[in-house]
Amino acid sequence: MSQKIAMLGSGFIARFYADSIQGIRSQDKIVSVYSRREESARKFADDYAVAHSTTSMLEAIQHPEADVVVIALPNNLHEEAVLAAAAAGKGVLCTKPLGRNAEEALRMLQAVEAAGVFHGYLEDLVYTPKFLKSLSSVQEGHIGQILWARSRETHPGPHSDWFWNQDESGGGAILDLGCHCIEITRSYIGKDIRPVEVMCWADTQVKPITAEDHAVGLVRYETGAVAQFEVSWTFRGGLDLRDEVMGTEGTIWVNNFLRTGLEMFVSGKGGNYVAEKSESNSGWIFPVGDEVHDLGYNTMFADMFFSMETGTEGRETFYDGYVVNAIMDAAMKSAKTKLWEPIELPLWRGKEGVTKISALQEYDEEHYLIKQETIHDGRTKVIVKEKQSGKISERVL
Ligand SMILES: NC(=O)c1ccc[n+]([C@@H]2O[C@H](COP(=O)([O-])OP(=O)(O)OC[C@H]3O[C@@H](n4cnc5c(N)ncnc54)[C@H](O)[C@@H]3O)[C@@H](O)[C@H]2O)c1
Repeated sequence: MSQKIAMLGSGFIARFYADSIQGIRSQDKIVSVYSRREESARKFADDYAVAHSTTSMLEAIQHPEADVVVIALPNNLHEEAVLAAAAAGKGVLCTKPLGRNAEEALRMLQAVEAAGVFHGYLEDLVYTPKFLKSLSSVQEGHIGQILWARSRETHPGPHSDWFWNQDESGGGAILDLGCHCIEITRSYIGKDIRPVEVMCWADTQVKPITAEDHAVGLVRYETGAVAQFEVSWTFRGGLDLRDEVMGTEGTIWVNNFLRTGLEMFVSGKGGNYVAEKSESNSGWIFPVGDEVHDLGYNTMFADMFFSMETGTEGRETFYDGYVVNAIMDAAMKSAKTKLWEPIELPLWRGKEGVTKISALQEYDEEHYLIKQETIHDGRTKVIVKEKQSGKISERVL
């Protein structure tokens, strides 16, 4: 089978999507492209051999050959595009963040579900090869029960004016980058586990904008696990994409972009592009092997199209986008109130009433084990707690 796509937008992410869609599964084809300006629509159409280009969003969505609409537009246009695609009975794949807030995202979810069309949330960073390997290790239990997950996306700021204008973008670094980190950490902790509350620090430290350009947040889940997101539009040194996850039996560290094992030294006279948001093209530089694949786009579109063809859901749906938006709403509120803010989820489809993780380890019938360690003189030391009295003591074996 093949998919025929109407691409909405011809900018930064639309081009990554097109490289992926027409690069790896060459049977899939963009049949129409919409862009605000005629020359951009035409340029995109020329570059990707798209037969039809238009400055009318509806014309692209309603193109008779298109089965699925890919939304690669500024955040304030996602809802309008989703509602039009659902009304046209087309499948719809929307970039991140799904909405500017959870209310918008919920309306989009309800519209596609009411129309009965396929919907996918294009969160590429839960499809990177390293993320998928780390997630399967987590899901197979290699690192035990998940206690803490951490994700960082920081760079020197986005590439188009509308991101910096809060009315269009809907927010700052939390909305733009936090959505990735939140879905990464939520996946490690378990997407069926309810995120309960958020504490977030945010500030506008450098850029002359109304939204935050830097934030750090904690999301507490019902199991007691905590997720940490670190986002910035003020970071110097390129695009830092790192994840960490810690369980009762192990730890995983992932570096998707800045240190991938490919290191080059160049004078800078030979070429300009190194990798997305790289700040330098000379000296020691750190390119990425295959940006389209290493950022997850290939696996993401393969998942979406195979799911459409087999009548199943993709790994990421509009429901996921809505949960992520709800967590970000609470984060933005917490940054103002400086309090833990509850996450409002009027629609919740995960587990209910999950109890807190218990990972107590028995030492013997009377004791719990706190810690066992071989010390530098070669002896093994054990620290235990007596169950009845609560007394903590150590012994050398
Ligand atoms: N990794 C990712 O998943 C990723 C990366 C970057 C951007 N995005 C998302 O993709 C969407 C588009 O971002 P982008 O980086 O491609 O932006 P961009 O500015 O590079 O492109 C925006 C596109 O939308 C079109 N457009 C239509 N109406 C517009 C209007 N009123 N104002 C501005 N542009 C208009 C423009 O013609 C352009 O083709 C955003 O929602 C963004 O969050 C996702």
